Amino acid sequence: MSRSAHPAGPRHADVWPEGHYSAPPADVNALDPKVWAQTVTRTDTGEVSVGGIGVAALAEEFGTPAYFVDETDFRARARAWRTAFGHDADVFYAGKAFLSRAIVRWLHEEGLNLDVCSGGELTTALSAGMPADRIAFHGNNKSTDEITQAIESGVGRIVLDSFQEIVRVAHIAQSLGTRQRVQIRVTVGVEAHTHEFIATAHEDQKFGIALADGQAAEAVRRALTLDGLELIGIHSHIGSQIFDMAGFEVAARRVVALLAAVRDEHGVELPEIDLGGGLGIAYTSDDDPREPHEIAKALGEIVTRECEAARLRTPRISVEPGRAIVGPTAFTLYEVGTIKPLEGLRTYVSVDGGMSDNIRTALYDAEYSVALVSRTSDAEPMLVRVVGKHCESGDIVVKDAFLPSDLAPGDLIAVPATGAYCRSMASNYNHALRPPVVAVRDGEARVIVRRETEEDLLRLDVG
Ligand code: LLP
Repeated sequence: MSRSAHPAGPRHADVWPEGHYSAPPADVNALDPKVWAQTVTRTDTGEVSVGGIGVAALAEEFGTPAYFVDETDFRARARAWRTAFGHDADVFYAGKAFLSRAIVRWLHEEGLNLDVCSGGELTTALSAGMPADRIAFHGNNKSTDEITQAIESGVGRIVLDSFQEIVRVAHIAQSLGTRQRVQIRVTVGVEAHTHEFIATAHEDQKFGIALADGQAAEAVRRALTLDGLELIGIHSHIGSQIFDMAGFEVAARRVVALLAAVRDEHGVELPEIDLGGGLGIAYTSDDDPREPHEIAKALGEIVTRECEAARLRTPRISVEPGRAIVGPTAFTLYEVGTIKPLEGLRTYVSVDGGMSDNIRTALYDAEYSVALVSRTSDAEPMLVRVVGKHCESGDIVVKDAFLPSDLAPGDLIAVPATGAYCRSMASNYNHALRPPVVAVRDGEARVIVRRETEEDLLRLDVG
């Protein structure tokens, strides 16, 4: 691995090009604890370590690109959510953010439940020993096979997403001689302040059943008449990467209003509400996420207040954080390849991965930060765009960031906060081999999802 000096890229121009960045950081070597996992630190030599192991040794042993997850941090965050919500509430980790058998075991040990949204996620959860009654099954178009698998394995709840599914789940449960515990997912009509593709509570989209025009009340009416279903509650998920609690509060209020209407019409008090996931994390130093205890307090207070006003027993609350638990606990480690300074614009830094290991920048215009982690540098910061090795100019990992201007091929750089929706949305585009996920804890590193190999690619190609 060469560490030779590279001719410095252009200093940032007097008038900077368009971009997301603010000023260069005071210290380009500093690691903001808001965006880096808990045990990440710079050692005396200037190299960054996680769980007590330096990145050079990690790159040597596991290769790059690779995701490194700080197990201590993951467990601490899972525990913080569990503790914040206490015994009267349940925390379902949203497996879509990132799921593997090790993750399932950590969640189980830390007392969390699990939300899955496909047969594959359910199989992974069950195979790692998550008790079925602690699993919630989601999805807007569950197949008959998936519904059957979920009911046969005894999942704690299925979240119903359409009128057709109400009938389908009831029918399958009945034919299996059982009664399935279910919730109904409603769309509460909130415009969450996040990217359009990840907002889910406005009415014009594919998820849930609308509250506004009486559809949700009708769904409850039908579910209550079907023998195969035990309706235990109402579910709402308003979107993802949200910082403002106002949307959750409106959702909680509207869900409680539905519970009151159900009580008035049917004389039934549904015992549970689920307020979904969606809490934002810090991708850059500009983001200020809420802590789990603040969220638990805010949601608990609003539900209690609304229930008192409606003279309802306070239902058991559950939440489904995915990103907020796993997101901050991992970083992606890349080796720097080609460096292309474009005078007056910025320097393009190519890494050995890209949109196949992190599609979020291309898909949602997501912002990330980045740091040189194999060493420190006193060189002037330069404005960079970190790009991948795929055949698209939109193959951007970090749109605008500052790295030292003596950055050289062979240096290791890391992008923090890539624990959520990066490996889980990774692809084989250009026949890239999906990177491994390595768990690091107390001086030990072990692969929890191995790197794909060319044999894996060829095994699928049976033509
Ligand atoms: N519950 C339900 C029903 C969901 O649909 C989701 C996420 C969650 C919980 C977890 O949300 P979280 O706490 O992770 O925000 N790929 C996108 C995010 C899609 C989220 C889909 N549903 C991204 O990379 O930003």
